[in-house]
Amino acid sequence: MRLRKKKSTPGRLEMMKDYFVDTNQLLDVNGLFPNNQNDYLLHIEIGAGKGKFITACAAQNPDINYIAFEKNADIISMAAIKAAGLPNVRFANTDAEVIHTLFKENSVDRIYLNFSDPWKKSKQKKRRLTHRNFLEKYQTILKPGGEIHFKTDNRPLFEFSLLEMAEFNMTLSEVYFDLHNQNPQNNIMTEYEEKFSALGAPIHKVIAKFKK
Ligand SMILES: C[S@@+](CC[C@H](N)C(=O)[O-])C[C@H]1O[C@@H](n2cnc3c(N)ncnc32)[C@H](O)[C@@H]1O
Repeated sequence: MRLRKKKSTPGRLEMMKDYFVDTNQLLDVNGLFPNNQNDYLLHIEIGAGKGKFITACAAQNPDINYIAFEKNADIISMAAIKAAGLPNVRFANTDAEVIHTLFKENSVDRIYLNFSDPWKKSKQKKRRLTHRNFLEKYQTILKPGGEIHFKTDNRPLFEFSLLEMAEFNMTLSEVYFDLHNQNPQNNIMTEYEEKFSALGAPIHKVIAKFKK
């Protein structure tokens, strides 16, 4: 099904254009944020949706810089509007396929993957953001000790992701099959998380690190 483009998107993108990064070249991360923020940690979110999570993180942690990746222009334009006034968040309207071309090696401190599309059919599994092909790209850009934080309500995707991470020789430092009951403190909910947890779905989370 082809989705109709929203008429309001170009206006939103134009209004928030200073918040968007150029995804055609290696990012000059220091140049993206105000000068006194150059030594801040860098966290990125892939598949950020309408931006509730990343903008809440940015507001709560003014000493961390954030870049949110989202391939859908209509959706990321809505996320960017939420960031108005926040100096420490930027947006990348591109597919995460190219993420390893945008960052220098060992330059990112943390990657958030929240409620990534499950791509249920086995023949689609290479599109899952926790497929080993993506893990390889994340390994390149993450600093030694850098973490992947992955949340989902989708049990088959969670199990697939744990196996991919284990086979990639990653350390799984925290694993929750019911995050909201096991470790609800300091959890920032995403749009999908609010929706699915309200329906009673348990939320799964893993924090994983590469051994490098
Ligand atoms: C199910 S939604 C979840 C949105 C948000 N993270 C949340 O939890 O509410 C997944 C989002 O990831 C985006 N996405 C999926 N694959 C992507 C990719 N390869 N690169 C960038 N964005 C992607 C989709 O466009 C969609 O907006």
